[in-house]
Amino acid sequence: MARCRSLVISAAVLLLTGCAARHSALDPQGPQAAQLAALIWGFVILCSFVWLTVMAVLLAALLRRRAERPDPLARDPQRERRAWRIVTLAVGATAATVLTLTGISYVAQRAVSAHEPAAVRIKLVGHQWWWEVRYEDERPDRTFTTANEIYVPVGEPVTLTLNSTDVIHSFWVPSLAGKRDLIPGQDAELQFIAARPGVYRGQCAEYCGWQHAHMGIVVVAVERAAFDAWRERQIAPAAAPDDPERAKGLAVFLTKACVMCHAVRGTPAGGKVGPDLTHFASRSTIAAATLPMSRESIAGWIADTQGLKPGVHMPQVTLAADELEPLVAYLAGLQ
Ligand code: CUA
Repeated sequence: MARCRSLVISAAVLLLTGCAARHSALDPQGPQAAQLAALIWGFVILCSFVWLTVMAVLLAALLRRRAERPDPLARDPQRERRAWRIVTLAVGATAATVLTLTGISYVAQRAVSAHEPAAVRIKLVGHQWWWEVRYEDERPDRTFTTANEIYVPVGEPVTLTLNSTDVIHSFWVPSLAGKRDLIPGQDAELQFIAARPGVYRGQCAEYCGWQHAHMGIVVVAVERAAFDAWRERQIAPAAAPDDPERAKGLAVFLTKACVMCHAVRGTPAGGKVGPDLTHFASRSTIAAATLPMSRESIAGWIADTQGLKPGVHMPQVTLAADELEPLVAYLAGLQ
């Protein structure tokens, strides 16, 4: 009994906290998400009404039982006419309900998939288990790649082109838009507008292997001026190390396995297998929103990658005792 009660309480807590801000389809922060939230409420209200009506009729039928007829096979035209009317009404109501649900789904679908000219175009590529984010521009020298964190200007349409390198992932930032799959070899498009400044968390919504749960993404919506400033900082190559420790860290980075997979623009590191680290420390999380960005997280991640995110494709890098600190200092300085 106690177990049952605690189950009910945890379910209620989950339900209620699930509706809180940041990661909820019922907390829309843009027009596309608002359409979907309205659709969810439309379905809930209509289906609740249907359920309550059916329960009320059932209750009435149970309470108002008539006496049995002496001969159940004898025809009773009045009774049959009444039954016919009730069945016709029920069929009509069912058809109307289905048509209404179809109609509101269609209207919402049209609104969600309508595309305006994009203010920002982003190519989003899914990897096991992180997000490659490429900001496209007509000028190739203004195109840049980052990871796991998307900056967007408030109130402007952002168009994502989605693809994947390995398995099917699904992009889902509930406060901004519906889900969209990232399918290997096939581009898909998704457009959203963030109506208000804020940080919106998203999550891969398609089971993609061992670390599916650790494939989070962060969308940061800022005013246009702040967005432009951010973009200029991202376009710039990484700053050269400004002290001996960080210089040593860069040397470690370039001579160990790191350089095989990661790129840091402005250095010889040009690996494309893992996330681009040019402005790594400017992000708010590491390992696809698995850990908050801090020197401790970076050190822990390098020292025990497989312990923190088992199965991740980054191998354990073996470092000498005096190499970890400088490497962490270098990475933490990549603003
Ligand atoms: Cu990627 Cu689940």
